[in-house]
Amino acid sequence: MYAELAKWWPLLSPPDEYAGEVAFFLQALHDAKAAEGGTLLELGSGGGSNAFHLKQHYYLTLTDLSPEMLAVSQTINPDCEHIVGDMRTLRLGRQFDVVFAHDALDYMTTEIELRQAVETAFIHCKAGGIALFVPDHMRETFEAESDHGGRDGEDGRGLRYLEWAFDPDESDSTYTTHYVFMLREGQNVHVEHDQHICGLFAHAFWLQTLADVGFQTKTLVDSYGRDVFVAVKPLS
Ligand SMILES: C[S@@+](CC[C@H](N)C(=O)[O-])C[C@H]1O[C@@H](n2cnc3c(N)ncnc32)[C@H](O)[C@@H]1O
Repeated sequence: MYAELAKWWPLLSPPDEYAGEVAFFLQALHDAKAAEGGTLLELGSGGGSNAFHLKQHYYLTLTDLSPEMLAVSQTINPDCEHIVGDMRTLRLGRQFDVVFAHDALDYMTTEIELRQAVETAFIHCKAGGIALFVPDHMRETFEAESDHGGRDGEDGRGLRYLEWAFDPDESDSTYTTHYVFMLREGQNVHVEHDQHICGLFAHAFWLQTLADVGFQTKTLVDSYGRDVFVAVKPLS
């Protein structure tokens, strides 16, 4: 999805679908007294759909493992800095007022990887700054689910998808999401199947990891029922 199929991202998950949740994230940052108009580093910014809204409020540096996804983001966010990087190992040598990690956190599939991502956020966060972590699921509340959607472009292209997430082994730290995409180019439609292995961790493990790395954390619940971790890096 994030390499050969990246060019389809605007028909799969475009910015207008993110407006509501980004409004929640911005309010959470405001309530946590994040420096408005300051700098924000996004880890795993993908096609830049969140960023499209966040950039009205912060100066953004967008990072992602996939150059193809960053290229998509460049088309809608040409005014933002884009850098290829893995959230487990990224080291920019700079600090930001806000560090934000959203659904790309799902690709942390082991406790070690999750801790690495949290450490990356801590290292890049200014003292007194805020890190906002928005994983899709917690181990305790995960339920199998399916979804579908997609839309048409203006160039004869169209996409429809079926998404199915389930947990084949409740004893490990992962769940699985399968996608089937129907991709239309003019008269031609072809089908692609994509399998994603995603991480699933207990709420208490998240809080313990954030505390071990040095954050002071509050949990909010958004309108999707997701736990949103608002983590402050202490001044000293
Ligand atoms: C669902 S997409 C993110 C979409 C994004 N929320 C947006 O607003 O467009 C997930 C992204 O996570 C990225 N990703 C996966 N593992 C990563 C890692 N270790 N470091 C950085 N990005 C990663 C993928 O390349 C992909 O672009």
